[in-house]
Amino acid sequence: MPFRPAIPEHEAGLAGLFSALAAAGDERFFHPHPLTPEAARAICRRRDTVATNTADEFHVAIDGSGGDGPGVIVAYGLLRGWAEGFAVPSLGIAVHPAHRGRGIARSLMHHLHDVAAGRGAERVRLKVYRHNSAALRLYESLGYEFRPHSPTELVGLLTLRQPVAA
Ligand SMILES: CC(C)(COP(=O)(O)OP(=O)(O)OC[C@H]1O[C@@H](n2cnc3c(N)ncnc32)[C@H](O)[C@@H]1OP(=O)(O)O)[C@@H](O)C(=O)NCCC(=O)NCCS
Repeated sequence: MPFRPAIPEHEAGLAGLFSALAAAGDERFFHPHPLTPEAARAICRRRDTVATNTADEFHVAIDGSGGDGPGVIVAYGLLRGWAEGFAVPSLGIAVHPAHRGRGIARSLMHHLHDVAAGRGAERVRLKVYRHNSAALRLYESLGYEFRPHSPTELVGLLTLRQPVAA
């Protein structure tokens, strides 16, 4: 499944994904920003650039199996923190409720790890609710190590494998 940085042509699809996540009640687990059309617009039309290594990353997963069209956005992942000057980005992911259990989240995690390592990050971090068992199992299987963040949340850290030098 292709993963791409979010661009203006993804705006409607990303807004549709946010709407499906909100309708499914997933905002209780995943709230890096409001899950609104305005947020989709801001993400897809942002003007910063990764060229200076200071921009955050917002990626979409596109399921093109439906035919010749542009494909459906079935997942969203972000790496944030660079824009605020942090060396360790914070990762977040969400998969469309109708497309879960197909390995999309696992693939998206590997993709985001590669993006972060490619940008020179040595580690990534994330926050997860203690009762979000699906996400916790995924992160544990990928090697994240956790410590308490609050009574309801854990912080996970993963040391990234560095890209092989050319
Ligand atoms: C958590 C989430 C991203 C998983 O997406 P997914 O595409 O269904 O996950 P995958 O199919 O790639 O499964 C990867 C692993 O996640 C775990 N997992 C996924 N669904 C699970 C479930 N219902 N119960 C237990 N573990 C589950 C398993 O470890 C699984 O690995 P396995 O298939 O080898 O057993 C998805 O449920 C989601 O978007 N939830 C709402 C948003 C959210 O909670 N985001 C994370 C915020 S920290």
